[in-house]
Amino acid sequence: MCGIVGYIGKNKCKKTIVQGLERLEYRGYDSAGFVCIDPKHKHLNFFKETGFVSKLKKALENTTYDGHVGIGHTRWATHGVASKANAHPHFNCTNSIAVVHNGIIEGYSDIRNKLIATGHEFRSETDTEVVAHLLETTLQFHKTTEAATPKIAVIEFLKQVKGVFALVFLLEEYPDQLLLIRHKSPLAVGIGNGEMFVSSDPLAFSDRAKKTLFLPDKSFAILKPDSIELYDFSGKALRVTTQTIDFKFQAANKQGFEHYMLKEIYEQKKAIDHTISFYKNTTASDSHIKTEYDEAIWKQLGLSSKTIDELESIHLVAAGTSWHAGRIAQFFFEEVCNIPTHVHLASEFRYKKFFPQKNSIFITISQSGETADTLECLRHVATYKIPTIALTNVASSTMVREADGFLLMQAGPEISVASTKAFTSQLASLFWLANRIALQRQTITAREMRTSEEDLFVAAEILESTIENYKWEITQKFAAQYAKYDRFIFLGRNISYPFAMEAALKLKEISYIFAQSYPAGELKHGPIALIDNKTPIILFSVLDELIYQKICANAQEVKARHGHLVVFAFEGQQELIELADLAFVIPHVNPLLAPIAMAGLMQFFIYHISKKLGLPIDMPRNLAKSVTVE
Ligand code: G6P
Repeated sequence: MCGIVGYIGKNKCKKTIVQGLERLEYRGYDSAGFVCIDPKHKHLNFFKETGFVSKLKKALENTTYDGHVGIGHTRWATHGVASKANAHPHFNCTNSIAVVHNGIIEGYSDIRNKLIATGHEFRSETDTEVVAHLLETTLQFHKTTEAATPKIAVIEFLKQVKGVFALVFLLEEYPDQLLLIRHKSPLAVGIGNGEMFVSSDPLAFSDRAKKTLFLPDKSFAILKPDSIELYDFSGKALRVTTQTIDFKFQAANKQGFEHYMLKEIYEQKKAIDHTISFYKNTTASDSHIKTEYDEAIWKQLGLSSKTIDELESIHLVAAGTSWHAGRIAQFFFEEVCNIPTHVHLASEFRYKKFFPQKNSIFITISQSGETADTLECLRHVATYKIPTIALTNVASSTMVREADGFLLMQAGPEISVASTKAFTSQLASLFWLANRIALQRQTITAREMRTSEEDLFVAAEILESTIENYKWEITQKFAAQYAKYDRFIFLGRNISYPFAMEAALKLKEISYIFAQSYPAGELKHGPIALIDNKTPIILFSVLDELIYQKICANAQEVKARHGHLVVFAFEGQQELIELADLAFVIPHVNPLLAPIAMAGLMQFFIYHISKKLGLPIDMPRNLAKSVTVE
């Protein structure tokens, strides 16, 4: 994965490329690099740095490197550690061909060994470097046989390269062009006035380009300041179809908060309110009678009311935090719609045997709409002609373009790597959708639909107010107290179990403390051996009375073994509150929305533990906001 930026045109490229890289840092921040053609000497000048783009930016300020054509890259390490040598761009032996890459070259070590046997020298541990050497050989080969053009060389090159790739080449010999290749990983071209922009996400140039071309899958392009030649992998010319993109990059701003994560924790109420109000405006929940509005909502989802009426199963596919949202939403669809719902972990689902079921729909849940694992599932399922719906926060994302329909959250850009407001907006969206499906199937009334929407606003309100209730104690006391532990166990039952999984993930991501989640009922089947006074047990309650009783029994088991117990309980759950060493008490909500009500406080508590440890909360080590490799 990683972020690619390129420029060719009448202006100088360095500033545009560095700015583009800053906007793409959500794709990885292990290292960054820049290369351009020196206008005077016509050779490649490049610079690489480990760490954030800001470091590269600073280093480039001390060089004269600039030109009218260049490429840049921000990396998330897959093959080879995060080092200068492994940072992109990569080069052929003579440094006359530069390449940046997003994706993975399959079987690269065989290609590498063959190239080494013919005298090529490698300087990195990456899969990408083989690509520069391989293009060199195909270019040279054609020089000896027929007219050597990059186009002919690329066609030959593509016969030898497998995997997932978006590649941008800059060739010293062809200083008036950029060479772009796309196989699965997205690549977009922004068309300006006498200038062209390239990026793995149009966000990098959305304010500069008039039109955008998304390279079709399995295509390559030769880009000049005023023209685009587009071909399929066999070299057949393709029509260039552009579109106007109506979103602009919104410069991120912490608005006085110390971290984006804290700002985003506080934005959750607004994000849920906006999301639900937005959906309400696109649907007629006031009436039982099927209206044109009803059809409009299903149409946007790529469905019809008939599909909804006949629905027999719902499948949710996602990764990371979004998968936890899916696990929680399973309860929404099963309880509210009475439709069997299956939740798949994208990275596992894609390569296991698939049994297509009739009358089913697949919803991919992804904040970014770019996660490769999830995207591959979407593509796989689509080949079976099963309807696919993308639930995402990013209108311009690949999933929105590729799914049959979409549901767009209105959470606003989420910058911090650890997902907060996207998570709760996903929950709100999925709860709303479950109710909307139930309304369509007449298993709930229009009045019940309205109540559910109101319940969402109430849950969002509680999410925010509980943070305020405990703000002082967490910041002044509990954060320091709990930052001293080096392992935690998170427990939940029923709807609070996937929430416990999300809490454990949050702690791991931003504090690097080991955290394990378990269904509370499983405690006695093994994990109970881990209980000691050095391992806090964080237990999340539910509002269902029977399950609450079982949770109390689990809490008793912990205390009987002198465990340190922290509970997130609801008002009136006295037995649980009294058993705990520390209890956070939350007002009542619709029981299905308990995870939304508890989310803000859980995130705030974990955020402050990490802050006490002095860690880089918004960009934790080794992570990236959007993981675009499988
Ligand atoms: C990365 C992020 C996680 C996120 C996951 C899925 O691993 O670090 O925070 O939950 O990707 O991302 P998505 O954009 O598909 O929701």
